[in-house]
Amino acid sequence: MDVHTILLVLSVTELSQASSLGYDYDYGGVPLWINRLLGEPSVFSLQGRMAPGWFRAVNPQACPVECDCPIQWPSAVYCDQRGLGHLPVDLPPRTQYLFLQRNNISTLPADAFSNATQLRWLFVDHNQLISGLVAKTALANLSHLENLFMNHNNLTEVPAGLPDGLRQLRLAHNQIQQISSRAFHNLQNLTLLLLQGNQLKTIGEEDFTGLLSINLLDLSWNHLAEFPKYLPPSVQQLYISKNFLTGLSDESLQGFRNLRHLRLNHNQLRNKDLAPSAFNLTSMVELDLSYNQLTSIPLMPSTLQYLYLEANHIQEFSVSSFCRTLGPMDYSQLRILRLDGNKLAYHQLPPGWATCLRVLHRIFI
Ligand SMILES: *[C@@H]1O[C@H](CO)[C@@H](O)[C@H](O)[C@H]1NC(C)=O
Ligand SMILES: *[C@@H]1O[C@H](CO)[C@@H](O)[C@H](O)[C@H]1NC(C)=O
Ligand SMILES: *[C@@H]1O[C@H](CO)[C@@H](O)[C@H](O)[C@H]1NC(C)=O
Ligand SMILES: *[C@@H]1O[C@H](CO)[C@@H](O)[C@H](O)[C@H]1NC(C)=O
Ligand SMILES: *[C@@H]1O[C@H](CO)[C@@H](O)[C@H](O)[C@H]1NC(C)=O
Ligand SMILES: *[C@@H]1O[C@H](CO)[C@@H](O)[C@H](O)[C@H]1NC(C)=O
Repeated sequence: MDVHTILLVLSVTELSQASSLGYDYDYGGVPLWINRLLGEPSVFSLQGRMAPGWFRAVNPQACPVECDCPIQWPSAVYCDQRGLGHLPVDLPPRTQYLFLQRNNISTLPADAFSNATQLRWLFVDHNQLISGLVAKTALANLSHLENLFMNHNNLTEVPAGLPDGLRQLRLAHNQIQQISSRAFHNLQNLTLLLLQGNQLKTIGEEDFTGLLSINLLDLSWNHLAEFPKYLPPSVQQLYISKNFLTGLSDESLQGFRNLRHLRLNHNQLRNKDLAPSAFNLTSMVELDLSYNQLTSIPLMPSTLQYLYLEANHIQEFSVSSFCRTLGPMDYSQLRILRLDGNKLAYHQLPPGWATCLRVLHRIFI
C-alpha cells in the first residue's frame, strides 16, 4: 500500500465515524473546520484503525513511545485514548497538532510543552485536568497556539497564562464557577469561546475584557439567573440556553450590533419580566425562545427569519408582534415559525396574519 491509498482509506472511514459516533461532541458541540488542502491532519482518532507498530515501522522520525506519528502528517502526534496518566515526554519539536483526548491526565507541568514550541492545535478533551495542577506558565510561551481544546475536564478556573494568539478556546463541560477578572484580556484574536456546561452564576464587569473579535460565545447549561450585563459587543452567535433566566430588559441586548443568532431556549422566560422591545434588534436572523414560560409573543424585528417558540404557554397570536401596521410595505421576513406545543390552534390565527408573514416558508402550530 502506498501513502495515497492509505489517505483514501482514512478519509472514507472518517466520514462514517463522524456521523455514526457523534464526534462533534468531543469538541464541545461545535464542529471543527480542518483544511485538508493546507495539509491539516485528521482530527479523528486513529485508534483501532491501524496497528501502532505500522506507523513506527514506516516513519523514521522521532515519536514518543506512547504515541503514533503518521508519516503523511509529520506535524501531528496522536496520543489519544491510551489511559495516559501524564503527558508524553520528548514531544518532537516539529509537533503542531497534539492529540491527547480521552486519557487520564490531571497535570500540566510548567515545562510540559517546552520542547513543542510550534504547537498550533492542542486537544486535551476528556481528561481529568485540575486547575491547581495546570501550571500558570505551561501554555504562556506557546506563541503559535491557535486552538485549545479542554472540554470535559475537572477545571474549576479558566487556565491562567493563555497565549495571545488563540483563536478558539473550548472549555465546555468543566466545573468553572467563576471567570476571574481579565482572564481573557490578551485574547484579542479569539473568535470562539465555549463555556457551556459549567457552573457560572454571574459574569463580572471585566470577565470578558479584551475579547475584541469574539464571534461565537456559548454560555448554555450554566447557573445564570439574570441575563449577563457584560458580554463582548462583537458577538454574532450568543447561546445562553439551559440557564435560569426569567427575563430581559430593554438594555440587555443594546449595543450588540452584530448579533445574528440568539438562543435562549430552556430557560424560565416569562412575559412579566420581559421588556416589550427586548428583542427589537434589526441584526437578528434567528431567535430560539422554545421551552420557556411565555404566554404571548414578544415584539419581533421585521428582519428576523427563524423564530422558535415551541413548548411555551402561548394562547394568542398577535399580528402586531411581527408587523407594526398592515399594508403592502410592512411585512415580516420570517421564514420558519414554530409555535407547536403551545395553547394555540391553526384556526385561532387572526385575519391578516398571512399578509404580514407573507414570505413564511413553514409554520408549525
Ligand atoms: C526536552 O528535550 C530534552 C532533550 O531531548 C529532554 O532532555 C527533555 O526531557 C525534554 N523535555 C520534555 C518536557 O519533554
Ligand atoms: C487516573 O488517575 C488517577 C489519579 O492520578 C488514578 O487514581 C486512577 O487510577 C487513574 N485511572 C485510570 C483508569 O488509569
Ligand atoms: C518561556 O520563555 C521564557 C523567555 O524566553 C523562558 O525564560 C522560560 O523558561 C520559558 N518557559 C517555559 C515553561 O518554557
Ligand atoms: C473529575 O470529575 C469526575 C466527575 O465529577 C470525578 O469522577 C473524577 O474523580 C474527577 N477527577 C479528579 C482527578 O478529580
Ligand atoms: C491577530 O491576528 C492578526 C491577523 O491575523 C495577526 O497579524 C496578529 O499577529 C494576531 N495577534 C496576535 C496577538 O497573535
Ligand atoms: C424597533 O426597532 C426599530 C428599528 O431600530 C425602531 O424603528 C422601532 O421604533 C423599534 N420599536 C420599538 C417598539 O421599540
